[in-house]
Amino acid sequence: MLSDIHRAVIGTDGSDRPARIAAAMAPHLRQPDLLSAASCESCPNGYIRHLLHADREQGYAVVALVWRPGQMSPVHAHRTWCALGVHTGSLTEGFYALPDQAAQPVQTAALLRRSGDTSSGPADPDLIHRLSNLSMANAISIHAYGADFDRFGSDVNLLY
Ligand SMILES: [Fe+2]
Repeated sequence: MLSDIHRAVIGTDGSDRPARIAAAMAPHLRQPDLLSAASCESCPNGYIRHLLHADREQGYAVVALVWRPGQMSPVHAHRTWCALGVHTGSLTEGFYALPDQAAQPVQTAALLRRSGDTSSGPADPDLIHRLSNLSMANAISIHAYGADFDRFGSDVNLLY
């Protein structure tokens, strides 16, 4: 999977890049042996990130996120492009809008992302979403971001 993601990253720097990266992930997502046991470990305090690959030269990183039932991300947008795919379980992706003068984003839609499904988007402060594990089992998703892993905190997520 990582070599296919890499080919997609270097293959284009156009607006279709996130979708191409998601498409490169898709055929691998349901492979039972995609991840090591260590990359599937969950954490009781919140969803956890395991680094799968960091490419400083191209400025991107790939991580596995493990979500226990009830765990969710903050409501956020991205300062970089992002592509994700669900490996095991299912996640609910909520979408939000920030109306003029509104203090907080309001949810406008939600989609169930199941094993094998992908989602992607460009860096855009108006593309606001949240991933939640509303199921009864752990879920694992694969995410690629156009930022160095050690800058994930400040460079990837724009929190609301
Ligand atoms: Fe996100």
